[in-house]
Amino acid sequence: MMHASLRAIGMAVPARRIDNKHFETFIETTDEWIVSRTGIQTRYHAAEDEYTSDLCVRAVQDLASRYEGTLDDVDMIIVSTASPDQPMPGMACRVQYKMGLQKAAAFDLYAACAGFVYGIVVAKGLVAAGSHRKVLVIGGETLSKITDFTDRTSCVLFGDGAGAVLIEADPVGNIHGSVTGANGEGGIDLYISGMAPDIDGTPLNMNRCIVQNGRKVFKWAVNTAAEQYRKMLAENNLQPDDLTWYVPHSANLRIIEAISNETGFPLSKTLESVVDFGNTSSASIPLALCKGIRDGKLKSGDKVMLFGFGGGLTFAGIVITWP
Ligand code: UT7
Repeated sequence: MMHASLRAIGMAVPARRIDNKHFETFIETTDEWIVSRTGIQTRYHAAEDEYTSDLCVRAVQDLASRYEGTLDDVDMIIVSTASPDQPMPGMACRVQYKMGLQKAAAFDLYAACAGFVYGIVVAKGLVAAGSHRKVLVIGGETLSKITDFTDRTSCVLFGDGAGAVLIEADPVGNIHGSVTGANGEGGIDLYISGMAPDIDGTPLNMNRCIVQNGRKVFKWAVNTAAEQYRKMLAENNLQPDDLTWYVPHSANLRIIEAISNETGFPLSKTLESVVDFGNTSSASIPLALCKGIRDGKLKSGDKVMLFGFGGGLTFAGIVITWP
């Protein structure tokens, strides 16, 4: 059986950097509240004519600039996003066309902030099944375009960005055991409205922006992350000391701290992207990995545990030996 290896990574964020003071000009908030409750200091917002597909393409170009092989034989592209340029065509098809990857199939995956890890799990499965050999998994978002800037509890949180990884067939494989799951009952706690006016009879705010019950999602995220951390260690036959880095979805620094309190895994061995980039949903884990590399933390041979959680509600985690 073929195994799957992660070979390369790339990222992109828009040029426009937004600090916390920016929000003080139009909603009742302070830099101090935002930092103390979320840890966020800056985030990036796309230009008016800049969309998710543009950031996804730039993340792949960044990956290509640091990858020694060719992307011409990529045979599958998976994009995770909750903020596509449009519902159809999929963002993966936009990447396929703009990057000239003529041999690649392409589809989008819809699992909100857990989508990037779901994408790695799917890519690993395709490679193991022998149907595909070279898969791009991309998490990309322009959440600023679906943010309600009159809602102070959510508008300060979100940022735009994209991250991409290349996964290849390999006799050994550096992508190990995973966990996946969903809690559809919590769908109402984090949503973006579309066609239906309600979920299970509960009316929605039809503003087509991100709406979340922050407190509820916070608690669910911490409990789920702690429980799945233990499960992933057991399934991968690892002790906590075997792990070099833990990389949870970067929704809020306080959530990351609370997970560390619950698991006992040290915060100093956790990688995040939320302080500089805000909550970038699908992009937050690859951005944290890229930041870890840039800061000289994440190195070849490190054992890394990724854990995504978000709207759906969904979660997915996986262990990787860093290439
Ligand atoms: O990415 C997908 C998964 N998403 C998440 O994991 C998000 C999970 N939730 C969170 O990160 C946090 O719940 C939030 C950051 C959304 C909110 O933080 P919190 O500490 O849970 O605050 P809260 O919603 O309980 O609000 C506390 C107070 C309220 O005032 P009162 O009712 O105590 O008077 C809010 O109105 O803070 C107020 N508040 C603000 N004050 C200043 C809420 N937003 C702001 C704001 N500036 N921007």
